[in-house]
Amino acid sequence: CRASEGKPMKQRLLVVANRLPVSAVRRGEDSWSLDISAGGLVSALLGVRDVDAKWIGWAGVNVPDEVGQRALTKALAEKRCIPVFLDEEIVHQYYNGYCNNILWPLFHYLGLPQEDRLATTRSFQSQFDAYKRANQMFADVVNEHYEEGDVVWCHDYHLMFLPKCLKDFNGKMKVGWFLHTPFPSSEIHRTLPSRSELLKSVLAADLVGFHTYDYARHFVSACTRILGLEGTPEGVEDQGKLTRVAAFPIGIDSDRFKRALELPAVKVHINELTQRFAGRKVMLGVDRLDMIKGIPQKILAFEKFLEENPEWRDKVVLLQIAVPTRTDVPEYQKLTSQVHEIVGRINGRFGTLTAVPIHHLDRSLDFHALCALYAVTDVALVTSLRDGMNLVSYEFVACQGAKKGVLILSEFAGAAQSLGAGALLVNPWNVTEVAKSIGYALNMPSDEREKRHRHNYAHVTTHTAQDWAETFVSELNDTVVEAQLRTRQ
Ligand code: G6P
Repeated sequence: CRASEGKPMKQRLLVVANRLPVSAVRRGEDSWSLDISAGGLVSALLGVRDVDAKWIGWAGVNVPDEVGQRALTKALAEKRCIPVFLDEEIVHQYYNGYCNNILWPLFHYLGLPQEDRLATTRSFQSQFDAYKRANQMFADVVNEHYEEGDVVWCHDYHLMFLPKCLKDFNGKMKVGWFLHTPFPSSEIHRTLPSRSELLKSVLAADLVGFHTYDYARHFVSACTRILGLEGTPEGVEDQGKLTRVAAFPIGIDSDRFKRALELPAVKVHINELTQRFAGRKVMLGVDRLDMIKGIPQKILAFEKFLEENPEWRDKVVLLQIAVPTRTDVPEYQKLTSQVHEIVGRINGRFGTLTAVPIHHLDRSLDFHALCALYAVTDVALVTSLRDGMNLVSYEFVACQGAKKGVLILSEFAGAAQSLGAGALLVNPWNVTEVAKSIGYALNMPSDEREKRHRHNYAHVTTHTAQDWAETFVSELNDTVVEAQLRTRQ
């Protein structure tokens, strides 16, 4: 850190992510109301000691006029956020198109959307061009705010082109990039027409991070097989320049959940839910309504369980919270109708005049309601088809200090590598296996439940989001920027 008048200054960190951790609603020509999301990354970064972080990203709204842009910039500055303004066309091509219709399904092994595969292939180049343009727009904002000594931490698949844009502008800038999704096998990545360009631009970063060792290994293999570079235990080497590649598994701020459970309002909520579902075991799913989350497969497994275990039909309820997401992308619209259709059919089949087996909500819950729900749950079902990490599984465990419920967890979620010994691991594609695990979980003896819970709880409360962010930032600080090396030689 730089020193000023003998006093060490805090390390300045510029966090760049597609989305700012706010939802912005326009109230008038020059007035905005901002709701800051306290979850995930934000609390992780707030917890990092001796770092002064600012956030750069898209506010998720279209603001075509200068008055509105100025007002939003001012309002965001108070929250230490800096906006990147993207117009509708670029959002359509970059965010809905290249990010969410191409990279997202591919990185989760789902391939291109079935029906419009050819159309996607045709629009591929224009969407990739928009992706690069959008990344350059993020870079321009970073460059405008960068001061010597800052470190820049780029996040996720939206910004794979950003490290290169930043280094082209200033080779001395310290740049890290972290992927929150899986990085797929190199055999999948190599089907991407822009495969080499993306890898090369990520390699411009000084430190590249993934949630699991497997994802890091896949990335290094892609660089060796597709770019012909050399993989070393430290990372990837290109003509003497080393890009460090490593796994940094994320966690949650578990204390925030534990504190919430002590609040009187949350306790009231827990009592209400306990009474509401008295006599029935509660199973819970909390997911963004995304195809990677395997919601239809999960509900079909629950149907199979009810089919094969009639004695459980009026003794168990599945609460599925499905948070709408990326609603402009046709694949997501199709998924919503599909889930509604399946839930309706199963409730029609097994429901009675007074109770239905599945409560499905298409919305998010506020933090306190979510904590109460986690606390009353007997069995959580996290059955993603693929998932970078999946923090719902961590949040559930953090809220189960009293109940010690069972976690059924997909083996294809990054979390399976950390919570595998405590959870019941399943292949979410195998409906019969998941149905069996539901039965096993509901009947699990309390000593086994406690043992499994203890394992998971110890992990979740000691591998926190703050540790994750601190480790990444400190490793990034320790990397030696190539341009500086050259100056020293
Ligand atoms: C995933 C991605 C995040 C993204 C989030 C919500 O977790 O890794 O980068 O912000 O989904 O998706 P959205 O498209 O609404 O930002």
